[in-house]
Amino acid sequence: MLDIKIEITKNPKVLPGADNPLKFGTIFTDHMFLMNYETGKGWYDPRVIPYQPLNLEPSAMVFHYGQEMFEGLKAYKTGDGRTLLFRPDKNIERANKTNRRICIPEIPEEDFLQAIKAVVKTDEAWVPTKEGTSLYIRPFIIATDPFLGVKPSERYLFIIILSPVGAYYPEGLNPVKIWIEDEYVRAVKGGIGEAKTGANYVASLKSQVKAHDEGYSQVLWLDGVHRKYIEEVGAMNIFFKINGTVITPELNGSILPGVTRDSVLVLCREWGLPTEERKISIDEVYEAAQNGTLEEVWGSGTAAVISPVGQLRWEDNIMQVQDGGIGPISQRLYDTITGIQLGNIEDTHGWIVEVN
Ligand code: COI
Repeated sequence: MLDIKIEITKNPKVLPGADNPLKFGTIFTDHMFLMNYETGKGWYDPRVIPYQPLNLEPSAMVFHYGQEMFEGLKAYKTGDGRTLLFRPDKNIERANKTNRRICIPEIPEEDFLQAIKAVVKTDEAWVPTKEGTSLYIRPFIIATDPFLGVKPSERYLFIIILSPVGAYYPEGLNPVKIWIEDEYVRAVKGGIGEAKTGANYVASLKSQVKAHDEGYSQVLWLDGVHRKYIEEVGAMNIFFKINGTVITPELNGSILPGVTRDSVLVLCREWGLPTEERKISIDEVYEAAQNGTLEEVWGSGTAAVISPVGQLRWEDNIMQVQDGGIGPISQRLYDTITGIQLGNIEDTHGWIVEVN
């Protein structure tokens, strides 16, 4: 159990008004959580302090070799005023998996959860209540040793910041257009594709700019070896409903094991929908789009929740997903997942953790 010191800000900000659209990731709350690590000493000095800039050496290793990890989860406000977290254990488990992959010391799971709860509790007034909004929680760890050699750092900073957010995509729940990348790749098996670390996201920027310039919201990645099998969208995992079966790429080591991805699979199986986690090639999707059996496509992610996909572009081929509207399974998943998150639908899976 951590002994977390709490220092309350003397200059609280004005809370965003009810009409603020809470553009994703632009507003930060009054406080943040910090904890240091040093080899031989372990994790120490857990504290909640006013949100402020960090004081780091320009030589801090994170700036040079990118030894950092992050997570993303959300807190929700229920109608009766409780604050809920959705499956934080899965994020914490994945955080330590990322840590092991990139030589960052693990954080005991109960300490990680205690840290999240402490900072969320401190800024509980910032959890927005309007439909479609939540408090995005961004835990991350950075390597702080002032050293230019390449090796794991001896010192780290674990930080949690909070941001009240609306929809991740400006489209909201309206279907997004996705660009299928055939030039660059995001990750390969054996690399760091399944770790939640900034390097995977910087690798995606060039393609994302290209996709945006062409009018597409996001990039869908193909595998790095054959450039044929579908991987993920970067900010979300991807699902295809073809001829009645829900198909998503298997966790092959190069894609992120999404918490929402897992929740979608659990729900679809409960609803009696045939589901498959397997290799799925872009040719299979193209053929399904051609013969009319591509019934629905959606992405899943903490930030994105469920994001229906209305159109996919692969080389010069435009694949229209049905009439480009929100498919019935996408809508049902969105309603069910957000219903559970907001405490409006009974949590029969033990996914909800109350912040108290
Ligand atoms: C999340 O969904 O929480 C993510 O981490 C995606 C992020 C790149 C916005």
